Amino acid sequence: MNLNSSTTVGIIGAGAMGSGIAQVAATAGHSVVLFDTAEVQLQKSKVALQATLNKLVEKGKLTTGAASAIEGRITYADQLATFSSCGLIIEAIVENIDVKRKVFAEVEQIVSADTILASNTSSLSITSIAAACNKPERFLGIHFFNPAPLMPLVEVIPGVATDAAVFADARALIDSWGKSTVACKDTPGFIVNRVARSYYGESIRMYEEGIADFATIDWAMKTLGGFKMGPFELMDFIGNDVNYKVTETVWDQFFYEPRFKPSLTQKRLFEANMFGRKSGRGYYDYREGAVLPQPKQDEVLGKRMLMRVLAMLINEAADTLYLGVASREDLDTAMIKGVNYPKGLLKWADEIGIHTIVEQLQTLFEEYGEDRYRPCVLLKRMAAAGQTFY
Ligand SMILES: NC(=O)c1ccc[n+]([C@@H]2O[C@H](COP(=O)([O-])OP(=O)(O)OC[C@H]3O[C@@H](n4cnc5c(N)ncnc54)[C@H](O)[C@@H]3O)[C@@H](O)[C@H]2O)c1
Repeated sequence: MNLNSSTTVGIIGAGAMGSGIAQVAATAGHSVVLFDTAEVQLQKSKVALQATLNKLVEKGKLTTGAASAIEGRITYADQLATFSSCGLIIEAIVENIDVKRKVFAEVEQIVSADTILASNTSSLSITSIAAACNKPERFLGIHFFNPAPLMPLVEVIPGVATDAAVFADARALIDSWGKSTVACKDTPGFIVNRVARSYYGESIRMYEEGIADFATIDWAMKTLGGFKMGPFELMDFIGNDVNYKVTETVWDQFFYEPRFKPSLTQKRLFEANMFGRKSGRGYYDYREGAVLPQPKQDEVLGKRMLMRVLAMLINEAADTLYLGVASREDLDTAMIKGVNYPKGLLKWADEIGIHTIVEQLQTLFEEYGEDRYRPCVLLKRMAAAGQTFY
């Protein structure tokens, strides 16, 4: 089947992600059916979309006519049967594999034989959800970032059984929505949620070792590294509940690979309900009257910490490339467009020098004696041969 602008898009789940994806698809001109089992969620989604569109009209980014056309393209449904005319279904319900598998087994009874089915899961195996379908070859992962209307990146993930034509069709459609798509093998965390782990993990590790406090590490990454947010403010922004769970899931699914090992510091914050901004406290105190700690603006220390975090990030990006999970270009695009990194990590590696990165990792590996710091074989070979990524 060829997806095009007249394809009706069905979305399962009218929460944060489903509502955002519905807005994106309707803005691109599609008729959209948005389904949720909870009536209250459908109502909330409708009200939220109206508010968003009104704001866009006020800012002059949308005409009143265009806004009402977008609204008019979305049908809110409490029956799965309404999906019968959809050419593409994107699921964005609770992150639970059994529930997702059950829903897709039901959906397959309703849709036509060539309807493409996709999950927006952040952490579950696409192959495993697809296996619940009679036709796993029409199933793939389409992973948007939050908020979907604003974040440009979409990871497109074929499962083991996905038909190449289904993958190409779905990717072309999402590209036509103005998104930047990257292709990624069905591996834990896909690209972004895998490669970004070291930004948090290595920063927490340096804090735990007493090398610097949160504010100083955040200062170093922002001021010296050019990251938009420091790791601790970012974890507080994402929520330590969400961020901790992603780390734990990636670690677990990579068979306890030490590079992904979660930290007790974040686990304790999670247990204490100190989720960050949304709960008033996290690494920082956001309650009224709280005084924010000031960083120690020590450039020598800052550069040392930045180099350690960058070496770990680049090591992960290199390993992801080496294992064929994604291409060089897609890896760099993913980190720039999915998490606002100032540069692609492989491009950054070239600038720093592969040899310098390997040396940094080797020093950490020898000093700590931990597998977590072992340099990726690709980096070692490239350093020995004097190669660059680009
Ligand atoms: N929130 C994020 O930052 C983010 C980013 C990327 C991907 N995701 C993934 O997207 C999915 C949805 O996340 P979310 O944050 O939008 O969740 P959410 O809790 O905001 O929304 C989930 C919605 O699904 C509905 N639902 C639950 N079971 C259902 C069922 N059986 N049938 C129909 N509707 C059902 C709920 O009523 C709710 O409205 C998850 O798989 C998540 O991992 C989330």
